Amino acid sequence: MSAKIIDGKALSLSIRESLKTEAARFESKYGRKVGLAVIKAGNNPASEVYVRNKIKACEDVGVKSFSYNFPEETGEAELSELIAALNGDANVDGILVQLPLPQGIDEKKMLALISPEKDADGFHAVNAGGLMLGLPCTKPCTPAGIIELIKSTGERIAGKNAVVIGRSNIVGKPAAMLLLAENATVTICHSKTADLKSHTKNADIIVAAVGIKEFVKGDMIKDGAIVIDVGMNRADGKLYGDVAFDQAIEKASYITPVPGGVGPMTVTMLIKNTIESAFRCKEN
Ligand code: GUN
Repeated sequence: MSAKIIDGKALSLSIRESLKTEAARFESKYGRKVGLAVIKAGNNPASEVYVRNKIKACEDVGVKSFSYNFPEETGEAELSELIAALNGDANVDGILVQLPLPQGIDEKKMLALISPEKDADGFHAVNAGGLMLGLPCTKPCTPAGIIELIKSTGERIAGKNAVVIGRSNIVGKPAAMLLLAENATVTICHSKTADLKSHTKNADIIVAAVGIKEFVKGDMIKDGAIVIDVGMNRADGKLYGDVAFDQAIEKASYITPVPGGVGPMTVTMLIKNTIESAFRCKEN
């Protein structure tokens, strides 16, 4: 079998078209653009790229971005002060703090300061808890994008065995919750899982979010599985996924490429979250 490629870039562009319409509808109804505050601290090279992509996506869709860059030696006080001001700023509908933050800054403490209504990333405990309990909440962008990518294949998620490799708060745990909400039977695997292959070989859907270059080999994949690769591993000037793509393509029915799979969807879901927050705040 040679897998079909799930084109995250194309899906992302088509979703962005409808987001443009929604952003314009907000502007004409409320007399201002939807606003997203993007906070970056330090010089993490990957963060520089992600933040640039997020700001560019705002421009493309017609969302106003407010960009804040702090040096590596920033303290919690400066960030706290800014987050408090943005929480109270009527032109800001979404706030995102790009992770990782510089050493010495408590990320959990900073994320907890963001008003849950403006939490564009869905990282606040109120939103994470809402996801767990099945309450209306802002969903983390990468996991939300993963669900859209799987649905774009036209395959049913309900009743499928899904294996998520990785248990981060940003991807693994919320991806598992969203798959469960879609009625998949979900197994969360991680670096300490014994005999990982025995789990993945039984998986109709594999979400690889472990952060290790080409960790998932072809012989770990069941014939016909859907493989979603969240990995962004930089080595010898190239970007590699968490899946050995050339092997996996021979086994899977559908697979996301790196780059051009999950990455663009993360950014698009961020803009979607921000526009939804903007309408929710006005209409509730
Ligand atoms: N760092 C890596 N991924 C993300 C993300 O989705 N959002 C934020 N804020 N930081 C990240």
